[in-house]
Amino acid sequence: MKFLYAATLSAVAIFCMATVSHAQAPTNPYAAKCQMCHGATGLGDTPAGKMMGARAFNAPDVIKQSDSDLLTVIKSGKGKMPAFAGKLTDPEMTALVAYIRKLQ
Ligand code: HEC
Repeated sequence: MKFLYAATLSAVAIFCMATVSHAQAPTNPYAAKCQMCHGATGLGDTPAGKMMGARAFNAPDVIKQSDSDLLTVIKSGKGKMPAFAGKLTDPEMTALVAYIRKLQ
């Protein structure tokens, strides 16, 4: 009986840990949602990116835009860039801007 109690308790503890770590580190949606056009390194050198005219994230024109400019493009779209408002959460889109800065 004592054993069963301990086992239940540790199962609950493991479950909580898994839930917490998931909340702290959401998976980066870049690979699933952006990479097909912008490429793994953000150069826009994929066939779809070239066809649609995606610029490299490290191009001067992109670097000089503010974080809120980039966030607006992700949210509302621009040219052939699809809008992601409603498909991604605000924290996810903010994290993507930070990720783009890292790629730059
Ligand atoms: C279907 C292809 C496609 C997908 C998917 C896509 N993009 Fe884009 N993106 C583009 C194109 C094309 C542009 C250039 C738009 C223009 O300037 O006319 C662009 C522009 C941008 C820009 C502005 C940079 C600039 O060129 O001024 C940002 C930031 C951006 N995309 C982020 C993202 C993020 C983050 C995702 C994933 C959530 C994503 N994109 C998914 C095609 C795509």
